[in-house]
Amino acid sequence: MKPEELIEIATQALKNAHAPYSTYQVGAALLCADRTIFSGCNVENASFGLTNCAERTAIFSAIAAGKKEFQAIAIVASGSAAPFPCGACRQVMVEFCGPDFPVYVANDDEYATTTLGDLLPNSFDLEGSHE
Ligand code: THU
Repeated sequence: MKPEELIEIATQALKNAHAPYSTYQVGAALLCADRTIFSGCNVENASFGLTNCAERTAIFSAIAAGKKEFQAIAIVASGSAAPFPCGACRQVMVEFCGPDFPVYVANDDEYATTTLGDLLPNSFDLEGSHE
């Protein structure tokens, strides 16, 4: 699947964002090894700390549906600031994905491609399997 196609699905998911506090809407689309796709959006809360990012919504939905192997993720935000994943989302990705896992980060105009290894080098895991 082309990055542009995954980004388009993430853009559709962005429309469901619940972001009344930041007004920063984010959508994500996660491509699974079996070619199924799970999307997610950010879900904010009046208590702020309970906010769930779009990436984690997509990943947790996939896990809940029994998926464990992932090929790529696209993350799209409204406006000009590119939605590079927060530290919590990077750590969640490391739980399931290796350092070569492609991460496409897009805004209204363009997208960048990076990898999980670049986003979170020397990541923590109990068995040292990421060394
Ligand atoms: N957010 C995401 O959903 N993903 C990112 O990669 C960056 C941040 C959300 C969390 C919050 O709802 C809003 O963007 C502002 O931080």
